[in-house]
Amino acid sequence: MGNFFGIDIGASSIKMVQFEKKKNQFDLISAGAVQNPFPNFNIEIDQTLVSLAELIKKLKSDLGISANKVVASLPERKVFTTTLELPQMKESELSQAVLWEAENVVPYPLSDVNLDWEILSEIKSPKGEKIKIILVAAPVALVDRYLMVFENAGLELLSLETDTLAQIRSVKTFFPNIFELDTLVVDLGAESTNLIALEKGSFFSVRQVPTGGLAITRNIVSELNLDLVKAEEYKKVYGLSPQLEGKVASAIEPVLKIIVGEIKKMQGFFEESTKRNISLVYLTGGGALLPGLSEYLVKSLGVEVHLADCLSVFINRNQRFSFLKNAGHFFTVATGLALKLL
Ligand SMILES: Nc1ncnc2c1ncn2[C@@H]1O[C@H](COP(=O)(O)OP(=O)(O)OP(=O)(O)O)[C@@H](O)[C@H]1O
Ligand SMILES: [Mg+2]
Repeated sequence: MGNFFGIDIGASSIKMVQFEKKKNQFDLISAGAVQNPFPNFNIEIDQTLVSLAELIKKLKSDLGISANKVVASLPERKVFTTTLELPQMKESELSQAVLWEAENVVPYPLSDVNLDWEILSEIKSPKGEKIKIILVAAPVALVDRYLMVFENAGLELLSLETDTLAQIRSVKTFFPNIFELDTLVVDLGAESTNLIALEKGSFFSVRQVPTGGLAITRNIVSELNLDLVKAEEYKKVYGLSPQLEGKVASAIEPVLKIIVGEIKKMQGFFEESTKRNISLVYLTGGGALLPGLSEYLVKSLGVEVHLADCLSVFINRNQRFSFLKNAGHFFTVATGLALKLL
């Protein structure tokens, strides 16, 4: 059994996934989620931190996970991610060059952030060879708070990355067509929507849209005069359907228009830079199941849209996981984290 698991602390729920690797094949050991009762939870507040640790301990115990080591992620909305292109150079010189570039591009003092970077690819051009790098800057204060949460939960944090990197690992593992095509992963979460453009499976860019499922529900509350629980139910049942005179759909559409507007900007930038088109969208996050969403995106963007159900293969292998049917899209970040060190 693997000695660690992946944990995704989202604004609306906490998800855990554990795999083991047998003869180059992944086997699902455990997966589950619990509602995060602190909407807009602020990890800076000590009481939230303690309660969050308790919640993590309970979910872990309910799922029967005995491992005490974790791989976790920071939400993309709390970090700064960019790509750099540097001339080809010796590995020993690269760290210093990245640091110099970071001084110019990171919008915070470097003393306040943890820097992490990785080589994405080597680019050959008439002007010479270049190296493309992904650079992530995470506020030190935030990383410290995450460390405290896991310490309080009695867990050893093996690795902390971003939602985006975990998401990419997941789709690359379970959807190999990503390597043939230019794709966009759309993670429709509660607080924000994360848009990740991939150039034949390699990271191209990421964009955060500060709106998501919570904003959709709030719109339904105010437009249809419902309480939050009822509005949440209407969202899941009616979504963009024309039922109820299309009133639920009209309340939802303004949020989707913002997201589609941002996707179009990304498509434009991608096309300008690569001279190719994004032809496929993978939908992830809780909002991926919004009734009518796929059709809406197909119509607005002119691309193919698939649900990123990354756990479906395990449901067929083991009856114990039948509760995860049509729920894989919800676990893509936690899945990517659970795969990281295998
Ligand atoms: N069937 C459904 N139809 C529409 N929306 C849904 C459905 N199921 C869940 N959601 C919405 O998905 C959102 C939660 O998704 P998810 O768990 O991916 O968010 P999160 O990871 O906790 O948040 P974030 O990524 O913003 O930190 C909620 O707003 C919820 O209302
Ligand atoms: Mg999320």
